[in-house]
Amino acid sequence: MVLEMGGKILVTGSSGQIGSELTGALISRFGSSNVIATDIQSPVRNDCRTASLDVTDRDAVFSFIKKEKVSTVIHLAAILSARGEKEPALAFNVNVNGMRNILDASVSADVGLLFFPSTIGVFGAGTPRENVPVETITRPSTMYGITKLLCEQLGEYYSAKYELDVRGMRLPGIVSYRAPPGGGTTDYSIEMLRAAAEGRGYSCFLKEDCRLPMMYMPDAIDSIMKMLEAPEDRLKHRTCFNVMAFSFSPSELEQEIRRLRPEFRVTYTPDERQLIADTWPRSLDTSAAAEEWGFAPSYTLTAMVDDMLKHLTPVSRRQ
Ligand SMILES: NC(=O)c1ccc[n+]([C@@H]2O[C@H](COP(=O)([O-])OP(=O)(O)OC[C@H]3O[C@@H](n4cnc5c(N)ncnc54)[C@H](O)[C@@H]3O)[C@@H](O)[C@H]2O)c1
Repeated sequence: MVLEMGGKILVTGSSGQIGSELTGALISRFGSSNVIATDIQSPVRNDCRTASLDVTDRDAVFSFIKKEKVSTVIHLAAILSARGEKEPALAFNVNVNGMRNILDASVSADVGLLFFPSTIGVFGAGTPRENVPVETITRPSTMYGITKLLCEQLGEYYSAKYELDVRGMRLPGIVSYRAPPGGGTTDYSIEMLRAAAEGRGYSCFLKEDCRLPMMYMPDAIDSIMKMLEAPEDRLKHRTCFNVMAFSFSPSELEQEIRRLRPEFRVTYTPDERQLIADTWPRSLDTSAAAEEWGFAPSYTLTAMVDDMLKHLTPVSRRQ
């Protein structure tokens, strides 16, 4: 089942960092009358229908998907890594029970396609650090990673058992300027770019040499759209594709920023989020995504920093 024109597309967690941009891309491609943007509180946007939908409310999820005759679910609602370590019970409830509610309701209402993003958080301290293949040691040490790994496996189980077309990719840290990030370990990159654009210094919560896989939002959106439209018979994997555009450390990002803002300075005071980052790989093998659905990110680190600073710099500071 490939995402097609005409069916109703439900987006959960649509007010978040990714949802607020992906929803717009779905509207551009499939039309505003075919997209319903939901979140735990009704999203504020005027380009499509919106509604409040708490994914942990099983009855509400079942009746919403049935009543709206949903054909595709883009399931983004989740509690991310850093917040998940502070509120592990909430992370388990939203990430696992929310996913199970979406899966069961999708089967019951004959939904054709379900997309959800997994994460590099499924890897753990025992995973190789560089060029990590899709199939490798996945023993995460965070509640976020544990729940997302279970979601990957549930997606494969439901695909096999109920013929629901479930697809997902392990997103790296996503950098963007529109909506603020929701409590992840790579949020420092957006905070650092924002500080530089506003003429402030920045105190970084990760170590200066902590390299992690990353991607700019336009490439994340383009990748998700490509994956949604890929013919099912080309997919050998389902929910565990590795994707990333480039890796950088906080000090490498600082250097890139200084190219354009020579006065910019960062201090490094790692906190508990460093412990999460320490268990994640530095780079991933993305060849399965390239071969099976055409993954091909276009932004380099330099191009991303140029574009981010252009958009984040307040009008009063532009020359
Ligand atoms: N942003 C990244 O760097 C990144 C990296 C890897 C994976 N992901 C995944 O992408 C997806 C979207 O991430 P994001 O960065 O947009 O996160 P975000 O935190 O910005 O947004 C998540 C949204 O989910 C909503 N939500 C929380 N609990 C809910 C509930 N019970 N019912 C309905 N909605 C609820 C929140 O209100 C929020 O708007 C998540 O599944 C996340 O795990 C994101």
